[in-house]
Amino acid sequence: MNRRMKTIAAACALGLAGLYASGVATQAQTTPQQAVDAAFNKYKGLKEGKNADYIPALAKVDPNLFGIALVTVDGKVYSAGDLKTEVSIQSISKVFTMAQVIQEQGLDSVANRIGVDATGARFNSIIAIEGAKLMSGAGAPEMNPLVNPGAISATSMVTGGSADAVWSKIIGFHNDAAGRQLTVLQDVYKSESDSNQRNQAIGALMLAYGYIKSNWQQAVDLYTRQCSIGVNAKDLATMAATLAAGGTNPATGKKVIDADKVPGVLAVMATAGLYDDSGKWLYHTGLPAKSGVGGGIIAVSPGKFGIAVISPPLDDAGNSVRAQKAITDISNALGGNPYSGKKAGS
Ligand code: DON
Repeated sequence: MNRRMKTIAAACALGLAGLYASGVATQAQTTPQQAVDAAFNKYKGLKEGKNADYIPALAKVDPNLFGIALVTVDGKVYSAGDLKTEVSIQSISKVFTMAQVIQEQGLDSVANRIGVDATGARFNSIIAIEGAKLMSGAGAPEMNPLVNPGAISATSMVTGGSADAVWSKIIGFHNDAAGRQLTVLQDVYKSESDSNQRNQAIGALMLAYGYIKSNWQQAVDLYTRQCSIGVNAKDLATMAATLAAGGTNPATGKKVIDADKVPGVLAVMATAGLYDDSGKWLYHTGLPAKSGVGGGIIAVSPGKFGIAVISPPLDDAGNSVRAQKAITDISNALGGNPYSGKKAGS
């Protein structure tokens, strides 16, 4: 038995074979469960940040809720804290509706209609729409599907003969990525529908500027519904792991997105997933990620794992404080940064 084989045999004996297969490094002897537990214990008492309250139902969610899940590309699950309680997926849904449009209509569809450039502005900025319109006068659009205007536009691009037909495709795609049947949190949907005048204005403006071709009201309503889908930490981690595994859900084995379309989805997450803090996030983690004002963040270590944390209190950019800290620690402990140049398992 040569040295490499002995190392692999030792890892098997420790029950870590799956980690090698999935490329999750055991750097500094840290196992995924140790990394998850360490982050949970380190941040469980942290009280920074504040629940979103511009959607009234979100202000009522328990700010102490804290759940962490990591799913490897071969389907192993590591977790700590609350894995059962569902929060609304909010902007994390934008990733999967973008992916759905790319899957149906190709990478150019989103790039040509919406654009794939960071706006550098807040997620619901109207000035960003004006800026994008000015900049794109001579060429391609300068927006992306992860800010509200681009996301509403992406939702409008999902094809279907009726609102119900479009909706069943959107929820079906989310179900496939999560590996189970998800449902809409009706209190959140109602609360956001009653208070989303700004998104309605954005929808109308996007129609006026040609990013949405028709029926902006339907697009805003379906977008609001997709943001209200209920998810727990394990659902989100499985959705992230589906992207980490090249578009195939590691829990169910179902192909959700073609492997050659996944890098485009991850690229937009890397540049715009945490809005105006995306650069800072990428600098510290290297991970494509997406946040939601419900308190969830997903992050993807391609070829290795997907990770998700739910903790409702947010920072000023609208990103969960504890989720950012916990994911950063866990990924860095496991060698998750794709820019590190480290080989899988090294
Ligand atoms: O449209 C909205 O404002 C919400 N439904 C989603 C915003 C969101 O999640 C921003 N993410 N951090």
